[in-house]
Amino acid sequence: MTMIFGHRGLSSMYPENTMAAFKGAYDDGMDGIELDVHMTKDGEIVVIHDFFMDRTTDGIGYIKDLKFKDIKKHSAGKWFNEKFSLEKVSSLQEIFEYFKDKNFKINVEIKAGYRFYENIEEKIINNIYKYYKKENIIISSFDHYSLLKCKEIDSTLETGALYEAALFNPWTYMKSIKVDYIHPQYLTLTDEVIEDSKKEGYKINTYTVDDVDAIKRLISKDINIIFTNKTYG
Ligand code: G3P
Ligand code: CA
Repeated sequence: MTMIFGHRGLSSMYPENTMAAFKGAYDDGMDGIELDVHMTKDGEIVVIHDFFMDRTTDGIGYIKDLKFKDIKKHSAGKWFNEKFSLEKVSSLQEIFEYFKDKNFKINVEIKAGYRFYENIEEKIINNIYKYYKKENIIISSFDHYSLLKCKEIDSTLETGALYEAALFNPWTYMKSIKVDYIHPQYLTLTDEVIEDSKKEGYKINTYTVDDVDAIKRLISKDINIIFTNKTYG
């Protein structure tokens, strides 16, 4: 049965990647959320899409150059709507602690792995061990070095490889990076790719689908997870 995940939370109605957006997805009855993480100068894993503050907060500068306490001084919601001005950038720990008893699935997308943020995989995985249930987590990334690193740390953690291109026979490559799922951009999903991926043993988690007809088609094809910004009641 296809699961629906709120992409950056219920981000069509709330400021993306904020606690409000995640609570919105949960209250809407979604199966889970997708969120993006970076690492601060003082080693905190924080939930924000971009490498820098500028677009989604009233602060400026790169996450890697800022301490968590300084990031917390800024609004992460005002840019979306004044009524969300009290929203802040959350740590991954804060999100995990809020949902830990709710049987809610979380896809953690690592925006850049260890070659950019030292030991980010260890820090994320320690957060999972301390504050969440491993079986309710999928780690995804466009940085496939990072996914392999996660598997080296804990082979039982589920990983999914994000990609945008219409890859030829993607499973040949996916086996080499040991992922559990493939996370293709949905427009690349022809019927043939869907069937072949299943035959090769890969479940598909696809992004970011806001078109109702596309969602219906993907559900009829028994796609595992659909990431969407919207609510469909
Ligand atoms: O999970 C897929 C999707 O989130 C990847 O793209 O830019 O929205 O993080 P982006
Ligand atoms: Ca993402």
